[in-house]
Amino acid sequence: MEIVKLRDDIYYVGAVDWNVRSFHGYTTNRGATYNAYLIIDEKITLIDTVKEPFAEELLERISEIIDPSKIDYIVSNHVEMDHSGAIPAVMEVAKNATIVTSAPSGLKGLQAHYGDKYNYQTVKAGDTLSLGKRSLTFVATPMLHWPDNMVTYCSEEKILFSNDAFGQHYASSKHFDDEVDMAVVMQEAEKYYANILMPYGKQANQAIDIVQSLPLEMIAPSHGVILRTHITEMLDKYRYFCSEENEKRALVVYDSMWHSTEKMAQAILEGFKKAGVECILYDLKENHISDIATQVLKAEYLVVGSPTLNTNILPTVGAFLTYMKGLSPKGKKGFAFGSYGWAAQNVAIIQKELEAMKVEIIKEPIKMNYVPTKEQLREIEEEVAELIVG
Ligand code: FEO
Repeated sequence: MEIVKLRDDIYYVGAVDWNVRSFHGYTTNRGATYNAYLIIDEKITLIDTVKEPFAEELLERISEIIDPSKIDYIVSNHVEMDHSGAIPAVMEVAKNATIVTSAPSGLKGLQAHYGDKYNYQTVKAGDTLSLGKRSLTFVATPMLHWPDNMVTYCSEEKILFSNDAFGQHYASSKHFDDEVDMAVVMQEAEKYYANILMPYGKQANQAIDIVQSLPLEMIAPSHGVILRTHITEMLDKYRYFCSEENEKRALVVYDSMWHSTEKMAQAILEGFKKAGVECILYDLKENHISDIATQVLKAEYLVVGSPTLNTNILPTVGAFLTYMKGLSPKGKKGFAFGSYGWAAQNVAIIQKELEAMKVEIIKEPIKMNYVPTKEQLREIEEEVAELIVG
């Protein structure tokens, strides 16, 4: 097995999940990695583990370097099972290891997942653990994106083990940022931020303040590539992601039964174009909500349409609204639209959901009975153009 070194005696020992295409509903078209790191010092330390099905791969990688039974510490930065899932397999081999986790949430979470049969040592923000020549300092990052989250800093090596923060779902045979296409890494970092961290922008901003105050030569996240050349670029991107600044862009997101709502969506799109606003049309039958969420992150306008279906809206539109509500996008403007046959519940339901996610409603819903005429579509186009320009 290939041995990947970050520094002398610091190794990547994680796993590449080439074929995963859904990460609890977030589409991972480029696969994923679960990164774990091994530090060989007076105390042998494993930073995070991997998803349970990859436990054997983790242990094999460790075995290429050292007998896994010699592990003294397992630092668990985050309880979620893509990082803690292999703890039982490692503990089976390293029977005397101590699991280092945050107090109280890390301990509570790990015990709820794996029981209280292991040796646990809790740490809080600022605590330091000596490994011998090196030491680890723990930085609490609660709600980025679970209450237990922390990141681990090794000051002697200037490496931050950042867990989910700065991660990307991106499988590759190369493990460093300067060995791969950075444009792709940034796209995946944005998708990751949008779908996992968007609700926690305030916490992300605070964490970036702390991270920027540390002398850093490497950020080793638990997903995707290790940053050693593009650290500033990634920190600047994160600062931008978590700001409430939006770009002049409109997303028109819809589903349609017999193309009437679709025709309205296209007329609305033409209105935005006429007003000089960049816009993107998303048919929910063809696009995944996690890809649309990535675009929502920085778009100023979010316009959503559905026809009425049985006094409700199409389930695709309902799923999109539910997903976006959970992600709490900031500073959006928008309105609802859709065609109906005999009852226009559709637009009221959509508007209510937009309001619940604090979208500023800039227009009464646009509703059309059955099939819009060419004249009506022209009117929609003009109305939207005037609204945006005016
Ligand atoms: Fe990569 Fe929140 O786990």
